[in-house]
Amino acid sequence: MAKIPPGVGPRFPQVVVLVGATGDLARRKLLPGLFHLCSAGFIPGCRIIGVSLDELDVDGFRDAARSALDEFSSRKTTSADWDTFAANLDYVPLSAGAAALRAAVDRAEASLGTECRRLHYLSVPPSAALTVVRTLGEAGLVERSRIVMEKPFGTDLASAVKLNGKLHEVFQEEQIFRIDHFLGKEPAQNILAFRFANGLFEPIWNRNFIDHVQIDVPETLGLGKRAGFYEQTGAYRDMVVTHLFQILAFMAMEPPTALEPAPISEEKNKVFRSMEPIRPADVVRGQYSGYRAEEGVDPDSDTETFIALKCHIDNWRWAGVPFYLRTGKRMAEGQRIISIAFREPPKSMFPPGSGVGAQGPDHLTFDLADASKMSLSFYGKRPGPGMRLDKLSLQFAMRDTGMAGEVLEAYERLILDAMRGDRTLFTTAEGIERLWEVSTALLESPPPVRLYEQGSWGPKPVHQLIAPHAWRLPFERAWRDPNKSGN
Ligand code: BG6
Repeated sequence: MAKIPPGVGPRFPQVVVLVGATGDLARRKLLPGLFHLCSAGFIPGCRIIGVSLDELDVDGFRDAARSALDEFSSRKTTSADWDTFAANLDYVPLSAGAAALRAAVDRAEASLGTECRRLHYLSVPPSAALTVVRTLGEAGLVERSRIVMEKPFGTDLASAVKLNGKLHEVFQEEQIFRIDHFLGKEPAQNILAFRFANGLFEPIWNRNFIDHVQIDVPETLGLGKRAGFYEQTGAYRDMVVTHLFQILAFMAMEPPTALEPAPISEEKNKVFRSMEPIRPADVVRGQYSGYRAEEGVDPDSDTETFIALKCHIDNWRWAGVPFYLRTGKRMAEGQRIISIAFREPPKSMFPPGSGVGAQGPDHLTFDLADASKMSLSFYGKRPGPGMRLDKLSLQFAMRDTGMAGEVLEAYERLILDAMRGDRTLFTTAEGIERLWEVSTALLESPPPVRLYEQGSWGPKPVHQLIAPHAWRLPFERAWRDPNKSGN
């Protein structure tokens, strides 16, 4: 096993109270992530107490955790590692109340020693968050603890303000970690490295050189077992007001004075403060056909499973540069890209038919897949007589460096950061409230949902939204694969 460098994990053993322990996120990401962090030695002692509405006993929870690992872990689960992990699992149904939860934490702490810390991970819908926070308060589990809150944080400005207010009655702000797992993705952090560790691009990272920006996250996934959550949430609250806007902030922020939580949050929040309110006329909402017939979905549901919008940041760097955001379920491809289109040059010297500009502007593209990829496309001369131009590209894939195996999954990275008390990649109350504020007009008067075919790129008006530009996806040329010749 690779040696874990000092300082990447927490100094103290951890008791994790995982609320929502049988839910979709826990199964897909949190249990497999905790398993990896524990078995790879990142955490010096860890006990996990599952909590949920399900009336399970400890063995029932162990079985559920094992089947989650079998289904979703990207790494092999050896029986020795599993036995150690399983022995550190406990379970308390929510109905058992605060005293039972306290007793389980006491048991866990007795085995870990007095130095240990508590991490409460709330993987529950916004409507359930406050009840859980109150239970943690009643159980006396606030001391030595940090609390991780899953998104969406509230459902609009009023509910987010209320949630923050109530949360602060129990936990101090320094204890609260509002998670947005897109910020834990390695390529998202690479945006900061790319922008601020190099002199090459930052001078042109502004309205004088950039024509528009796209943040495009189509998914082929459907709802899975999440209809109940999704019906109340929809694509805007599930993806845009959280992940896509956070990525936009990394893209658009000014250089922070230091790579530390407060300066980074301050620069991100300045972007959010400069964001113009989202106009319903700049939004296309969609719903895939067949959604209303799914189990748990209202037959008259108005929930959007797709959203595309145009937004603006009214500051000196970005005034007049549109940002186009798109995401949806059951679309043609699963991709996560940021694409920056540069302004086109005056092209008077190239003869008609040379092909200059024929394939759109130069683009810088970030792929937010777990191991980063980047591409810079530009026009170059086609070999041979005359002056024919083709779109060419420089591409980088982390995979080619041989370091892709070092990548921590986003949740793993963020769980470790929360255990260490590092807030750099977490969102703030102020930022989140501002994002709900710019969303108010849209939430109050959403445009009607339009049907789109499953496996498509969304409803037709999505093209009018971006005109005279075009969506980069689907790519005209796929990412280069060094294992295949001729591409
Ligand atoms: C989650 C959303 O936060 O992000 C899901 O709730 C979405 O609906 C998921 O599928 C996408 O995350 P990732 O890491 O798979 O791109």
